Amino acid sequence: MATRDRERWDERHAAAGETVPAPPDALRGREDLLPAAGCALDVACGRGAVSVWLAGRGLHVDAVDASAVAIAHGSTLAGRNGAAERVRWWRHDLDAGLPAACAGPYDVVVCQRFRDPALYAQLADRLRPGGLLVVTVLSEVGARPGPWRAAAGELASAFAALEVLVQAEGDGEASLVARRPVSGPGSAPAARR
Ligand SMILES: C[S@@+](CC[C@H](N)C(=O)[O-])C[C@H]1O[C@@H](n2cnc3c(N)ncnc32)[C@H](O)[C@@H]1O
Repeated sequence: MATRDRERWDERHAAAGETVPAPPDALRGREDLLPAAGCALDVACGRGAVSVWLAGRGLHVDAVDASAVAIAHGSTLAGRNGAAERVRWWRHDLDAGLPAACAGPYDVVVCQRFRDPALYAQLADRLRPGGLLVVTVLSEVGARPGPWRAAAGELASAFAALEVLVQAEGDGEASLVARRPVSGPGSAPAARR
């Protein structure tokens, strides 16, 4: 990530208002799919709304973002919500892949409004068998094509080895909730990088 891009994200996060814990959008109404305990990875966690919400649901969370400002917000939010002990914050540039320290396996992996197709294999790989993947990206479906937007069917194709539970595409967004099979195709851990 270029220094200027990180500065822009820092500025955006600094200018944003108060955050409250919130479920990932793709999971709204299907919160029953979440395990009541275990560990979660929140990729490009921003100001921590989802990370702290997951912690409030009983999960131990690794939260990763390149922006120090976002992480500072998240850490404050976790403290205010009694979740400081259940979230570990990692300042990390995802252009280099997921942090080696976040090897998992995780019961839940969330990646919301951050799209890097080069990370898709790693997101699936970090799930334990039976683990839940929750992804939302900008999409070309219902919007003009753009460099940050997923083509139609991109998530379904990238995560074809997982069992898809919820899928939506339209109005410029695509989302997917999927489970890593306990046995069969997609259940074996992929080779670590
Ligand atoms: C649109 S925000 C989404 C934040 C959060 N997931 C949410 O749903 O509110 C995108 C996030 O990605 C982070 N980000 C962008 N590029 C990154 C990179 N290369 N490495 C790590 N984080 C990055 C930004 O700092 C920002 O917090």
